[in-house]
Amino acid sequence: MHKIEVEKANEFIRKKIHEVIPTYRNHYHLMAPIGWINDPNGFVYFKGEYHLFFQYYPYDSVWGPMHWGHAKSKDLVHWESLPVALAPSEEYDINGCFSGSAIEKDGKLYLIYTGHVEEGEYRREVQCLAVSEDGIHFEKYVNNPIIAEEHIDGIGNIAEFRDPKVFQHEDIYYTIVASQTEDKRGQMLLFESIDLFEWRFKSVVAEGEANQGVMWECPDLFHLDGKDVLIFSPIEMEPLDYSYLNTSSTVVFIGEMDWETGKLAVENYHEIDYGLDFYAPQTCEGPNGERIMVAWMQMWHRTIPTHDLKHLWSGSMTLPRELHVKDNCLIQTPPKAIYDEFEEIISIEDQMIASGQISFADSVFNQQYIQLIVDIIEGQKITFLYAQDKESLRLEYDMSTSLLSFSRENMGYDIKGIEKKQLTKREVRIPLMDNQLKLEIFRDTSSVEIFTATGETMTFTFYEKEKGNHMHLQTSEGPLVIQKFKSSKISK
Ligand code: FRU
Repeated sequence: MHKIEVEKANEFIRKKIHEVIPTYRNHYHLMAPIGWINDPNGFVYFKGEYHLFFQYYPYDSVWGPMHWGHAKSKDLVHWESLPVALAPSEEYDINGCFSGSAIEKDGKLYLIYTGHVEEGEYRREVQCLAVSEDGIHFEKYVNNPIIAEEHIDGIGNIAEFRDPKVFQHEDIYYTIVASQTEDKRGQMLLFESIDLFEWRFKSVVAEGEANQGVMWECPDLFHLDGKDVLIFSPIEMEPLDYSYLNTSSTVVFIGEMDWETGKLAVENYHEIDYGLDFYAPQTCEGPNGERIMVAWMQMWHRTIPTHDLKHLWSGSMTLPRELHVKDNCLIQTPPKAIYDEFEEIISIEDQMIASGQISFADSVFNQQYIQLIVDIIEGQKITFLYAQDKESLRLEYDMSTSLLSFSRENMGYDIKGIEKKQLTKREVRIPLMDNQLKLEIFRDTSSVEIFTATGETMTFTFYEKEKGNHMHLQTSEGPLVIQKFKSSKISK
């Protein structure tokens, strides 16, 4: 039955892929060939390549019964699309193969995912196993589910119990699963196994406060730079200052894990990305122990222009980002291989522009990388207008408030969501280093990812109605002191 459902999805993709309208499709980000995607799943380095699976509904550009799409890459920049890996087919996953993860054991690739069943009021979420010899074709385990009601009796709610992330610590396999307390707070449950097939409950790793969301999704627990790190995606976390303003947020807890008790002592936490379109991140460990994170570059409950315009697709992954922990904060940097893709077309170094403004005509490209280092003088506001004609994206740094803001207010299609706050702009406080603003900006057709020198990121989607061709960089007062302004377009 599973084989038939997988083949049906692959056949549909083959037949329909030519009808996809490519106008807003990204080029150096992982996307599905057609249809809807959400969370990254099963991110793993397997036999010399990165494999990334994702929540997938090939048949429409809206969410539907979840399959697992699949792609692989050698460098995290060029992705090869592979056949659909999982489809709902059994009584325990009939309404969806929800999010999960992957691990290699004895040369085989194991996927652990949530089997979702929903009928009227009834909801059941259980953890299931699928295995592959070649990393492409997967068979569901005959004794599924592997973690179910009996494992969480009196501990968690079977209706909200999903997104298993599997990993090995010393000689034991662990799986951390998202769940909910009786009074509707998030909690993360830890299970242990010696063979991936038989599991037992170990502990509640972390439990949310009332203001930290009504349910936590997509946990990931790993050790990095001497710290234990838990990332997750809370639903309806209460906004605080400029953080947690999207309907669902992403959060990192940093601290120390006690493997005896299975509890995480949290020392610090913060939002992972400060943009409008970043959710459900998952990490994998690369061949040299590096920690790479990728997220879904969208947000729940938003209008999506490519769906409304009937382009037959919706959603993309973010750039995979390398992670580090510094001063108990999570730091993100772009994947190294991305820099080889670009060729420089504008390069300014060490210049003072007395008029306070510099414009670049006909210098905007669908795939573009911009590096910006400017000196900031007391009280100055720096504004960067990008893709300007009738519309433009606006990036601003205000020295007096230390706020970096990015706005898509004057850009393309209006995007609506269920948030009370506007969905056009986000801000984050960025401390300056040596009185310099240092940014890297990656634009791929309908997305922008901003990396600060201190490791914060802001991720946005936008859908231009008319192509903008110009860029302007300006100050509110005084001269503009540019240490570096480089703009590159994709070279291939
Ligand atoms: C997160 C999520 C997961 C779930 C999946 C369903 O975005 O809600 O909790 O497994 O999406 O597609």
